Amino acid sequence: MEALKGRDLLSLADLSAEEMKELLDLAAQLKTHQLSLRCNKVLGLLFYKASTRTRVSFSVAMYQLGGQVIDLNPNVTQVSRGEPLVDTARVLDRYLDILAIRTFEQEDLQSFANYAKIPIINALSDLEHPCQVLADLLTVQECFGTPDGLTLTYLGDGNNMANSLLLGCALMRMNVRIATPAEYQPDEAIVEQAKKIAQGNTEVTITNDPEAAAKGAHVLYTDVWASMGQEEQANARIPIFQPYQVNEQLLSIADPDAIVLHCLPAHREEEITDAVMEGSQSRVWDQAENRMHAQKALLVSLLGAD
Ligand code: CP
Ligand code: NVA
Repeated sequence: MEALKGRDLLSLADLSAEEMKELLDLAAQLKTHQLSLRCNKVLGLLFYKASTRTRVSFSVAMYQLGGQVIDLNPNVTQVSRGEPLVDTARVLDRYLDILAIRTFEQEDLQSFANYAKIPIINALSDLEHPCQVLADLLTVQECFGTPDGLTLTYLGDGNNMANSLLLGCALMRMNVRIATPAEYQPDEAIVEQAKKIAQGNTEVTITNDPEAAAKGAHVLYTDVWASMGQEEQANARIPIFQPYQVNEQLLSIADPDAIVLHCLPAHREEEITDAVMEGSQSRVWDQAENRMHAQKALLVSLLGAD
């Protein structure tokens, strides 16, 4: 996809609706057809937080494209000793072809992008997780064909997943409902951005009522109640988030053909019950696999296939 060549993906709002659709179509094609980047390219992974899926799926995608991966573990590079980010960015820019970063502050991703000419990919920040939502929407597309008229309901913490799902659903013209406790709503600026993208054509609903949100939904989605970096709040959050648990009762009021998604890792019997996660409506393993196909499409598009 020529239009994305050389660009960054820091937020899903960096994509137009058309670009998102093309990216998902390319991901679906790459799932069944091998493609090689004709010249060797190198992807750097700079992850300040733990990761299983993102790290491995990016690595395998790059290897399958014929490229190489360098794991820039912050603990064994100079970044953990305080080398300024803007210096690291300018140096890595001279070595790598593309860089995926998992970090805390969205502003740090922006600084990297300002100082490095190579494409910078947000591999999760406290604000957004765009790569995950590309895989989520690919899974929805596989399960339902067209996303037109579908409603995705996210229940739990108004975190990076909630924010990126708001943008992703709005771009795909899906209705999106986010149900969170009052003190844990998604980012206000992103809610406004999603409403602007939806232009009143699709529903963007923020609510504290889990049952109203789940009613008739085609996709029920949840994530951990305490994200990476918030572990010390985990126990205190359990009673606050309990009404938002994705369980069989909540699933019974969704559309009869509803699917259940979770970005993983999951805390079973907290945000999702074991029965639902292992149940017939769960698509979490296909969703996890799709990380690799969606990111392969992203790598091909940002690097250019020539
Ligand atoms: N869903 C996700 O990003 O998983 P990892 O934290 O394992 O990469
Ligand atoms: N909200 C979670 C997502 C993990 C993939 C976190 O940031 O820890």
